[in-house]
Amino acid sequence: MPPSDPTASDPTASDPTAPSARAEDLEWVSPYRPETDRAMARKGLRRVRLLDHMTRTLPVGPAERRNAAPLPVRPFRSGVDDEGLLRVNNRAFPWHPDQRDWDRDRLRARLAEPWVDPDGILLHEGPDGTIDGFCWTRVHPGEGDRPATGEIFLIAVDPERHGTGLGRGVVLAGLDHLAERGLTVAVLYVEADNGAAIRLYERLGFRVDHREAAYAPVGPAAAMMDR
Ligand SMILES: CC(C)(COP(=O)(O)OP(=O)(O)OC[C@H]1O[C@@H](n2cnc3c(N)ncnc32)[C@H](O)[C@@H]1OP(=O)(O)O)[C@@H](O)C(=O)NCCC(=O)NCCS
Repeated sequence: MPPSDPTASDPTASDPTAPSARAEDLEWVSPYRPETDRAMARKGLRRVRLLDHMTRTLPVGPAERRNAAPLPVRPFRSGVDDEGLLRVNNRAFPWHPDQRDWDRDRLRARLAEPWVDPDGILLHEGPDGTIDGFCWTRVHPGEGDRPATGEIFLIAVDPERHGTGLGRGVVLAGLDHLAERGLTVAVLYVEADNGAAIRLYERLGFRVDHREAAYAPVGPAAAMMDR
């Protein structure tokens, strides 16, 4: 399945609202193989992004969730939770080519896209009521022989809360949300060098299905897109 959006989980579509996303300059290859780099180099292109496409089946069984109680989450309320979600996003993603430095306009534009369901954006609040983590899910309807899939589109935890189990909790909440909607396959895209997220996903039973790579012309434009 091709990626669906130019954020952390969706790199192929162009996003006119993204100041740093030069999707039109990127050539995506799927599945990626190491030998692809050499072939693309001959065309004057070098690899600037590499994503793991991971999948698992749903629902998540009790043993996989270590019999832990579900994390309390609530759905996103448009216009009310914007600042809280942006705060966590920007604190969690200062390094991410598409996800860093989001502002209200960028979030509004994303929320206005037809596929977005605010009920599928699950927020966790800390003891003082501040949003400290979220899991944004997305449903991809089936087409022909291809079954519907539920995507873990975007997750973030406030850095102050990293390592406390919150990431695991919000992803589980997202997977449960997707399973309740009848989905039996979960998918996600993650930067191949995002060790923390990959470890989290692996511990939740996700496995790499294939890799996808983006290439840009060698030169200043490529340097801008690299990180
Ligand atoms: C990825 C992220 C959500 C993890 O959140 P977290 O609350 O720190 O993770 P948890 O405490 O729930 O840890 C879950 C598992 O991941 C592992 N993990 C988390 N951070 C890790 C790290 N830096 N290195 C190695 N493993 C790590 C934990 O060991 C844990 O494994 P366990 O099941 O054996 O206990 C968080 O680092 C984050 O917000 N990162 C920035 C945003 C991002 O990268 N999102 C993913 C791309 S969409």
